[in-house]
Amino acid sequence: TTVVTVNPAQLSFGAVAKTLSDVVTVPAGYTAMVLTALGDPLTASTPAYKNDGTDTDFANRIGDHGDALYYYGLNAAGARDDGSNVRGLLVQNHENLSVQYLHPSGPTNVAAGPRPAAEAIKEIEAHGVSIIEVRDAAANRNWAVVTNSSFNRRITPNTPVDFKGPVRGTSFLVTRHSTNGTQGRGTINNCANGHSFWGTNLTCEENWAGYFRRDNSGAGTDNAARTARELTALRRYGINSTTGNYAWSSTTPTADHFARWDARATGASATADYRNEPNTMGWVVEIDPYDPSSRPRKRTALGRFGHEGAWPGRAIPGQRLAIYMGDDARREYFYKFVSAAPWEAADATRADRLAVGDKYLDEGTLYVAKFNADGTGQWLPLVYGQVPDRPAVGSEPAYVFASQADILVNARLAADALGATPMDRPEWTATNPVTGEVYLTLTNNNAGGRPLAGTDAANPRHYVSQVGSGTSAGNPNGHIVRIREGGDNQAATTFLWDIYLFGADSADAPAQVNLSGLNADNDFASPDGLWFARSQNVSGQVRPLLWLQTDDGSFTDRTNNQMLAALPGFVGDGAARTITNTDAGGTTRQQATFIGQAATAANLKRFLVGPKECEITGVDSTPDGRTLFVGIQHPGEDGSAAAPSSNWPQSQAGTASGRPRSGVVVITRDGGGVVGL
Ligand code: FEO
Ligand code: CA
Ligand code: CA
Ligand code: CA
Repeated sequence: TTVVTVNPAQLSFGAVAKTLSDVVTVPAGYTAMVLTALGDPLTASTPAYKNDGTDTDFANRIGDHGDALYYYGLNAAGARDDGSNVRGLLVQNHENLSVQYLHPSGPTNVAAGPRPAAEAIKEIEAHGVSIIEVRDAAANRNWAVVTNSSFNRRITPNTPVDFKGPVRGTSFLVTRHSTNGTQGRGTINNCANGHSFWGTNLTCEENWAGYFRRDNSGAGTDNAARTARELTALRRYGINSTTGNYAWSSTTPTADHFARWDARATGASATADYRNEPNTMGWVVEIDPYDPSSRPRKRTALGRFGHEGAWPGRAIPGQRLAIYMGDDARREYFYKFVSAAPWEAADATRADRLAVGDKYLDEGTLYVAKFNADGTGQWLPLVYGQVPDRPAVGSEPAYVFASQADILVNARLAADALGATPMDRPEWTATNPVTGEVYLTLTNNNAGGRPLAGTDAANPRHYVSQVGSGTSAGNPNGHIVRIREGGDNQAATTFLWDIYLFGADSADAPAQVNLSGLNADNDFASPDGLWFARSQNVSGQVRPLLWLQTDDGSFTDRTNNQMLAALPGFVGDGAARTITNTDAGGTTRQQATFIGQAATAANLKRFLVGPKECEITGVDSTPDGRTLFVGIQHPGEDGSAAAPSSNWPQSQAGTASGRPRSGVVVITRDGGGVVGL
């Protein structure tokens, strides 16, 4: 293993210009190679992907909408080796579908059904998580998938899982499938992730609520059968679709794995219908990628909400572990879980990895963040006995918590009751490996979610973008908050915070909008993916490399989505400022906040632009930082089977035809240097 000892004064590569071209563009001196794409076979007996809508058996193929990923090293003998730079397991989430490309002429009756079973099973199995072995066999930056690896595995919405932690075995999880509330099936809408210090993966269930069918309008049978408490919880989590995404529960012929997506209370009890299925989703799920026979464990102590990611703080012997988590929806919250057990370094290499997970992830305290106007903040504990009743809202009665399991299942209600700070869509978190400071992307908000009068110090913007999409109002370009834990102890209940960076179009009204001083080489909008590089994590580094990925709707008329590299400073390196907001009606309001050091050509630079209509999401590297893995999600998402609006990844090789596929690119530096520095 090469020890990398870089200490950059500035980013060395030449910035990539904004572009609308249909390829992955990287700086001069770098190469981007497609490693995997939707449909790639995971077994030697699975046919090659034809990419014409006729392919089947997605339980043995790479899924759709690849999202967060993480590289788990293997040595030459095929055993876990966290230092391996040439062989490993790539674990990637498959969040959702570009359903129009999965069937020969697009989906049948996708809005409301009835759905053909052959289509529905493909769509279900194209969700979840993939684990694939990848190798750079000759150590010459020529990575390939090992198609017949015994590690290769798909976890789908149908894979058996176990519930762990305080909600296991409670009435919330009693279903037809598990009458004692200990087991569930699969995982869905897996967005961002986390890794553990003991070699497992934490996949996160984000926008799961929409997959369930309910009937919550008028005097629906579901409403009549539900208690007021259940209705409050269902409303708070947005479980209100009258069909469910892709209408899977309408499938003919039916089967349990289709019918389960109908969450109406139509039977006599929770074991006679599927009313509690929504309680089985919305969790952080631990997977042991090194053991293909292991069952994923849903960690209920980390709470149930729209989990974006679950990124750890630092592994400091004797200090309790922290996992930082965003709940990505408008006006939702920022959470952390603190383990009861202090970290013991010997646990990092234990072979019983999921048992180590039991030790650190099943007992502990879930907190939610409150940001104060003076640059301080509190972590409020979601602990039964310390959470007041959630007050009545309109005709909805007050919600009185009955147990710790109730608080965890209904974490959003508990956070409401505690007075947590509603944020502009909390996405990924990342921990600075040197300082321990935690960064949180707030991707954007609209004028309804963050009206002028609703701004606060941590979510301080409301404006009408003057360029780009022109009419976007609210906080369409997003920002990144960061915190420093009290006493630099990640178990602290107080913190300091500031705003590291504001997204903006650099041509937009500079004084009001471009608050971080972005220029043409580093302007961006809607930050989402966020990750501190592994490669410079050596002692003495004070400015680790931060990668930043975008998922933007307001800036994509200017450029396709992108990835930037940054050398951030620290909480408090900027100044307290008052910014002036102006809404669409011309009304102004001032908001005081704390803004970090301005971006410069030296500390923030565009590294990559993706193909048309993609999101850039998912990033990791080999331990030496010389191979970067980057996810390209849903290229051509607005096109159709008859008229695809992107031809990526074929376009990367110069072919401007064929259906687009989500994929993973490997980025290396010509000559073999560390990527990005
Ligand atoms: Fe799936 Fe919040 O991104
Ligand atoms: Ca995301
Ligand atoms: Ca997003
Ligand atoms: Ca997406």
